[in-house]
Amino acid sequence: MSKKITSFDSQPTMGKIIRIEDECEDTKNFFVEMPKKIEGVKAGQFVMLWIPGVDEYPIGVAGFKDEVLELGIAKMGAGTEALFSKQIGERVGIRGFYGKPYKPLENVNHLLLGGGFGMTPLKLLINTLKSRNRGDKIHVFEGARTKNKLMYLDFLQNLHDKEEIKFHVCTDDGSWGYKGFPTIALEEVLQEDSRQSVIYVAGPERMMKVVFEIGKKYPNVKDMQMSLADRYMRCGFGLCSACTVDPTGWRICIDGPVFNKEQLEQITDFGEYIRLATGEKKRI
Ligand SMILES: Cc1cc2nc3c(=O)[nH]c(=O)nc-3n(C[C@H](O)[C@H](O)[C@H](O)COP(=O)(O)OP(=O)(O)OC[C@H]3O[C@@H](n4cnc5c(N)ncnc54)[C@H](O)[C@@H]3O)c2cc1C
Ligand code: FES
Repeated sequence: MSKKITSFDSQPTMGKIIRIEDECEDTKNFFVEMPKKIEGVKAGQFVMLWIPGVDEYPIGVAGFKDEVLELGIAKMGAGTEALFSKQIGERVGIRGFYGKPYKPLENVNHLLLGGGFGMTPLKLLINTLKSRNRGDKIHVFEGARTKNKLMYLDFLQNLHDKEEIKFHVCTDDGSWGYKGFPTIALEEVLQEDSRQSVIYVAGPERMMKVVFEIGKKYPNVKDMQMSLADRYMRCGFGLCSACTVDPTGWRICIDGPVFNKEQLEQITDFGEYIRLATGEKKRI
């Protein structure tokens, strides 16, 4: 019987890129075949992706099936550009799986809100919630600057058409969905449906802070779980302290990246300061 993977160790395990798909502008889906079956990875967890000779950086898990890991990656700088130049059959290193995941509650409405590469852990979360099949309502709110920047548009629209989720989509320029921010539709749902809800968010931290302040106004919001993945990480597993937040000293890589409402209340850096690669703090 083949050994199953829930965790690779702290050394990279080499995997082979077996499929590359264009997702949206400057964003691709990479499917990486690992040597062993992957199991038990949860939405919100991440891997450290090593591009030999170039860089290593954190990437959220968008999905996995048997030995194949799905990663959704936006081109940013030298490290992600090097990945985008890779061809099918080439190898990359994977460390992980790391971090605390989302912990979906039961008998609630699930309100998932994201933007940019924040949509990757939410894709896995949607599939997790669907597979639980408890009949809870799943709303997904996605916003981007313009239509070409919307991630997983076909995947989400298809689920909406099959009535498996309710998809609320918007763009800043009105090129797809309504014109404006995802928080508009979020508030509409919170006002119209008094059932207990949990809000799950991933995306730019300033946007998450806005959602957090909105969520606090509604007594029907039972919890808010947000992934502070818009931050610098070096080791990914608690050794270097590059990712600490004040005043708690929590390391985002092992104490997060997903934090709940009670924890977020305690992080004064949340939505205010990030830490640069030098360790210096910078206002967001
Ligand atoms: C937990 C977590 C999950 C992530 N998941 C995804 C994902 O699913 N898809 C995706 O496209 N991106 C994801 N990222 C962001 C990704 O790590 C950065 O975009 C990537 O490191 C950029 O590298 P670069 O060399 O191309 O860009 P650079 O030019 O080096 O940097 C561009 C920007 O990327 C960020 N960045 C650079 N290096 C790091 C690093 N070591 N750690 C964190 N941020 C860094 C900085 O904000 C920087 O301003 C995630 C980050 C974290 C912390
Ligand atoms: S990245 Fe090293 S402790 Fe978090």
